Amino acid sequence: MTANVAPAGACCKELYELPIVEFLLGQSFHPGGPKLTRKLASTALVSRDAMVLDAACGIGNTARIVAADFGARVTGCDLSAQNVRRATAASLAAGYAQRTSFVQGSVERLPFGAKSFDVALCECSLCLFESPDDALNEIFRVLKPGGRIGVSDFFVNAPIPDILGGALGEALCIARASSVDVLRQAISRAGFEHVRVRIVNWTLTDMIARVHRQLKILGASGPVDLALPESWGDPAPILMALEELINEHTVGYLLVSARKP
Ligand SMILES: C[S@@+](CC[C@H](N)C(=O)[O-])C[C@H]1O[C@@H](n2cnc3c(N)ncnc32)[C@H](O)[C@@H]1O
Repeated sequence: MTANVAPAGACCKELYELPIVEFLLGQSFHPGGPKLTRKLASTALVSRDAMVLDAACGIGNTARIVAADFGARVTGCDLSAQNVRRATAASLAAGYAQRTSFVQGSVERLPFGAKSFDVALCECSLCLFESPDDALNEIFRVLKPGGRIGVSDFFVNAPIPDILGGALGEALCIARASSVDVLRQAISRAGFEHVRVRIVNWTLTDMIARVHRQLKILGASGPVDLALPESWGDPAPILMALEELINEHTVGYLLVSARKP
């Protein structure tokens, strides 16, 4: 039953450069979209002028939301040079160049000095890293004492079927997700205290509904330059399997907040 998962790293970075991913998920590459980003930033106590790290920032939507709604200064870091270029250009176009900046690099070896940030956010990415432990240790290092981490991610509480281990399962961030307890322990092991977990499964219902809608558009008139990669196979049975697992509480989505002592 356990999915046959390809190794993390470059494959995942290239996946999130595909225009089809943005078409299906929108500019926020995570369940819950901007609404969940705002909730995560509130949970992590982002305040005006706080220095915020967005670890694995994608195309910078989170950074712009947190700069606009919370008045924070956000530095995004992503493995993909293409995503970093797009994030920088979009922030410039939207008038957030003073409050946001983007750097190419790995969260597992963050290109920042110790104690640089008040808050670190990491949305729908921890389970993609080759070593989530290295990433958490790095986030801990770059946070100031008293700084907070806010993570959102998939969790799976039992082995998932092979059908979800392929490229689409990977695009949906499900293929490598771990259990709630494993995640909680990893965050504590990195040195964080007051680890608080909230389950936010409404985000998955919203995301699946959006993906269905977008697939319908693609099937009907579809932008001709967007095609589903052949390696994804037929998305219909994959989405159906995911919906079943969500309904039976095997798969879910969570927010975690914690504090560096
Ligand atoms: C599911 S997307 C999430 C993007 C963003 N957090 C959001 O919610 O819109 C995952 C992102 O992680 C990035 N990524 C994967 N491995 C990484 C690593 N080791 N360090 C930094 N970024 C990484 C990918 O390039 C991709 O942009």
